Amino acid sequence: MTPNAEIKKIVEEVGQDIIWRPLYDFERNKLSGGVGHDIDGIDPEFTELDFTGKTVCDLGCNLGHFTFYAHERGAKEVVGYDMEPKVIKGAKKLAALYNIEGVEFETCNFASEPATRTFDMGMLIDILGKINISNGFLIPILKGLESRSKSEMLLTFRPLYLVKRHFGMSEDEFLKLYPQAQIKNGFFSLLDFAQNFFAKKWKVTYLSKELPDDEQYKRTVHFIRKA
Ligand SMILES: C[S@@+](CC[C@H](N)C(=O)[O-])C[C@H]1O[C@@H](n2cnc3c(N)ncnc32)[C@H](O)[C@@H]1O
Repeated sequence: MTPNAEIKKIVEEVGQDIIWRPLYDFERNKLSGGVGHDIDGIDPEFTELDFTGKTVCDLGCNLGHFTFYAHERGAKEVVGYDMEPKVIKGAKKLAALYNIEGVEFETCNFASEPATRTFDMGMLIDILGKINISNGFLIPILKGLESRSKSEMLLTFRPLYLVKRHFGMSEDEFLKLYPQAQIKNGFFSLLDFAQNFFAKKWKVTYLSKELPDDEQYKRTVHFIRKA
């Protein structure tokens, strides 16, 4: 089978509905559109972020878009974790087809399984959203990230949510789920929540610039462990 036919087969086996980012064959033909918003990934202008020589984990890696990105940007070793075995199988095949060394993929629910190793940088790109938050997974996800990150954490998330509209629950129900959350005028600030959650040990060092019409999009937040 040709390499292009192999990538096509990966798309068929995984299913376009769960492939998050656009995927191309070796002739730049688009094989899958990707169901995610580009803008919910790491901001393209965020070039100062230094991956050089670092070990990185990509939590919720899907087919490895940002796993490969971190590797391209100079990371020494990148491990992508996802709980969906189909995407991990596909990501492993892609790494072999791209002939990339220093990238690995493992099936793992990082929010419920304990960390088996730690990395210089933990990435959590486009994982926190309405579904995970309203299902009560926010804290296990943040803990899963922190337990795997030695020095840096890179996240994208939407800074502000309307509790009733976005989570489909009353403010009381939300506060039962997250007693430490603060709601002001119906809004829950995930940015404040994450900053407070990590405040003891981590310092926020980067926040994306304002984007036009950005309320619905995720932004990039970078934490560095305090000395
Ligand atoms: C919205 S996609 C984002 C994928 C990727 N980070 C990106 O931005 O291209 C979410 C991915 O995270 C995975 N995921 C969500 N929660 C997870 C968890 N607790 N453990 C492992 N994988 C998870 C899903 O299976 C899915 O592949």
